[in-house]
Amino acid sequence: MNGVSGRMGYRQHLVRSILAIRDAGGVALSDGRRVQVKPILVGRHEDKLREIAARHDIADWTTSLDAALADPQWDVYADFLVTEARVPAITKAIAAGKAVYTEKPTAENFEDALELARLAKEAGVKNGVVHDKLYLPGLRKLKRLIDDGFFGRILSVRGEFGYWVFPGDGVPAQRPSWNYRAEDGGGIVLDMFPHWNYVLENLFGRVETVYAQTATHLPTRWDERGQAYTATADDAAYAIFGLAGGVIAEFNSSWDVRVNRDELLELQVDGTEGSAVAGLFGCKVQHRSATPRPTWNPDVPDGHDYAADWHEVPITQEFENGFKVQWEEFLRHVAEDAPNRYDFLAGARGVLLAEKGLESAATGARVELPEVTV
Ligand SMILES: NC(=O)c1ccc[n+]([C@@H]2O[C@H](COP(=O)([O-])OP(=O)(O)OC[C@H]3O[C@@H](n4cnc5c(N)ncnc54)[C@H](O)[C@@H]3O)[C@@H](O)[C@H]2O)c1
Repeated sequence: MNGVSGRMGYRQHLVRSILAIRDAGGVALSDGRRVQVKPILVGRHEDKLREIAARHDIADWTTSLDAALADPQWDVYADFLVTEARVPAITKAIAAGKAVYTEKPTAENFEDALELARLAKEAGVKNGVVHDKLYLPGLRKLKRLIDDGFFGRILSVRGEFGYWVFPGDGVPAQRPSWNYRAEDGGGIVLDMFPHWNYVLENLFGRVETVYAQTATHLPTRWDERGQAYTATADDAAYAIFGLAGGVIAEFNSSWDVRVNRDELLELQVDGTEGSAVAGLFGCKVQHRSATPRPTWNPDVPDGHDYAADWHEVPITQEFENGFKVQWEEFLRHVAEDAPNRYDFLAGARGVLLAEKGLESAATGARVELPEVTV
């Protein structure tokens, strides 16, 4: 596990996923056997690794990625590094014949992302990319509505994502400063469009076109040491995606908005038979039969309570941490060849959407996305 001192590596992948799986006695396979996990922590700072290992009763850690990759007792390489450090590390892991599981984006550009998919295929190593948003309770409820045919014909999707990330003078910023420097692999398009790509292609249809406008609304931010720096990366993106089948999806992504929503991510889906608003946890619906009939009249204040016309989809199953559920699926893929749709090629499609989104923002044109093969 490379990068466990980071935000995602520590909390979601080590503590909430691998250690939770270890504490549960491993992952159950289809024949009832269990496969246990035994992590080795890899990183650059001995003191941090030793401290995390001691805190969680982990026997193995090393500052040498090469040594860990050369050791046949480790089957899976997992990568939670800053994006810019990912490609060289994964390339080595593929060459060492390890199965590879990684955070998104798999690379900073499409060419590198596709090359990783090609290398993994040639080497015959199993590969997976985090698709965590698909495992959120709100999006799983939404998926069930789609599969049940609740919407009739889906017309449009509107995604609102974002919150106020403090610039860092006074109140500390909630996100690492590299996210706001293009030269360090930052930018909201490279960060979020890979998520939007897999959400859209798995729920509504392949993304065929993108039109995007980006901005760096806050040109100065303050880093972890309190030093002012120039924000060189986009911190907001306003995009329209054209999907196979005709659905139009519009997404606002911003680290410079104050939240006036129920959740930090919300997707509104409108269809001929009904509509839904899904967040991370909740999902509310309005059926065609219960749709009010608004009339436009600027002379009279509108007393109708539109929020009251929506009904919360009840919870009918237990939702576990999504990172853990996807880790379990990947480990089953490694151990017993269970299906795995979220591979490096899927990761490369996400990077392609980010790249084409940035191209659209730079040129002002709507850009088409080709279908991608290894
Ligand atoms: N799936 C999600 O929802 C989600 C959310 C946030 C971030 N991410 C992705 O996870 C990755 C990590 O993001 P984070 O927010 O945890 O970042 P972070 O800065 O908190 O952690 C990055 C880790 O990489 C290590 N690192 C930094 N520079 C390095 C270098 N040059 N060589 C080797 N190691 C280096 C750090 O020591 C740390 O362990 C990014 O690729 C990001 O896009 C995914």
